[in-house]
Amino acid sequence: MEVNIGTARITLILGDITEQETDAIVNAANPGLMGGGGVDGAIHRKGGTEILKECKFIRQTLYPEGLPTGKAVATSGGNLKAKKVIHTVGPIWGEENNREPELLAEAYRNSLALALKMGAGEAVAVSSGTAALHTAVHALGIGRGDEVIVPAMTFAASANCVVYEGATPVFVDVEPQSLLVDMDDVKAKITARTRAIVAVDYAGQPCDYDRLYSLARNYDLALVADACHSLGGTYKGRSVGTLADLNVFSLHPVKAMTTGEGGIITTESFEVAHRMRCFRNHGVTSDHFQRDQQGSWYYEMVDLGYNYRLSDLQCALGLSQLQKLSNWVARRRKIARRYAEAFSHIAEFEPLSIGPDTESAYHLYVIRLNSTSLSADRAQIFAALRAEGIGVNVHYLPVHLHPFYRERFGTGPGLCPWAEAAYESILSLPIFPAMSDDDVEDVIEALWKVVNTYAVKTRSAAVAGTR
Ligand SMILES: Cc1ncc(COP(=O)(O)O)c(C=O)c1O
Repeated sequence: MEVNIGTARITLILGDITEQETDAIVNAANPGLMGGGGVDGAIHRKGGTEILKECKFIRQTLYPEGLPTGKAVATSGGNLKAKKVIHTVGPIWGEENNREPELLAEAYRNSLALALKMGAGEAVAVSSGTAALHTAVHALGIGRGDEVIVPAMTFAASANCVVYEGATPVFVDVEPQSLLVDMDDVKAKITARTRAIVAVDYAGQPCDYDRLYSLARNYDLALVADACHSLGGTYKGRSVGTLADLNVFSLHPVKAMTTGEGGIITTESFEVAHRMRCFRNHGVTSDHFQRDQQGSWYYEMVDLGYNYRLSDLQCALGLSQLQKLSNWVARRRKIARRYAEAFSHIAEFEPLSIGPDTESAYHLYVIRLNSTSLSADRAQIFAALRAEGIGVNVHYLPVHLHPFYRERFGTGPGLCPWAEAAYESILSLPIFPAMSDDDVEDVIEALWKVVNTYAVKTRSAAVAGTR
């Protein structure tokens, strides 16, 4: 996709994005920006390339009375009157030099966060899900000497964020049917040093947050939801984003929606959100927008932060994607229903169990192979499916088995037996919104074929007849 910004032209490598999509990115960024309304769509035509006009809209929203002018005159007392504000820095692209890039980006970040609050009080947009986890752990004040409980069956980032802050991840096991955190093991591993629990909504299914929340309160611990898989999911009718003290989402391209790379953290606490905004911006107390409003250049760095900011272009893409999120989640659910129906009579494997109180967002569709019914192990089934052109995968090697954790923290086999056993038997089947119905049927057929090949007992006609 190419986007004209002023006179320059940049190419965004976002896959197969049409001209219409480009238009949508530009148009979608309008409603709700900084609390403002929509904008005359007429300014966003011609191949959707007029992000510059978008900038004008944002500026009009920021300065409804017109651009502030003549501030310099007031102090100098001279007769010169600036016709416009001439900023210290300007973008390299536009012919319009009267636009502060960071001010614009801040508007976009606020806009995306507002749109993705999911009913929580505050939302903070950052540059990735990993940055979001790190930001959350930092904002909780977790550091050296502290312990944080993390389930073993997850992507390494769920634990790495604890290590970034000098604290120790304590790995807990998962329940064998759902691969969600095992509450008894959590209780067993809480010590005087435990500061927080990171719950992981593995594969897209929200954890049992009522139980987790009361456990966390009983022990005075913070509850962080690693909801990187579950955007669009619900628990007891409540949306993810409101279920834990801090709720972390990834906007990576394979997730429910994307900003290219990106992350969001939601919370009820204004204070924690303030610390997170500060942390994503080098630990500086005020952002460009606030300084601009105050007409001030002064800022202080009060914390060692990072540049975890999400760019305006990424936010614009996110605002466009948001419009499609519910359809995409619905499509994932439909595929999952079809798989469940097609596999309902098969003994050689079973899908993860989904609790009665939850609606999964189906980031992944994971099956567990039943080794007693198969003459082949997971590696052979994996290879056979790949040979059929089915892009199966394995999520995940339990985190405590990664060499880094073994070496740094002395973890190893035996620490989380259910997660370790699951790792030997799981396969993730293809599931993403753009899959056609034919693709879904091809996956089913290939799986039947491979399972039939390796089934210990002869497959019954009844099974084939379920299709
Ligand atoms: C459970 C989990 N947490 C965190 C992350 C990190 O997210 P990101 O890739 O956006 O940094 C991922 C990424 O896949 C994940 O699966």
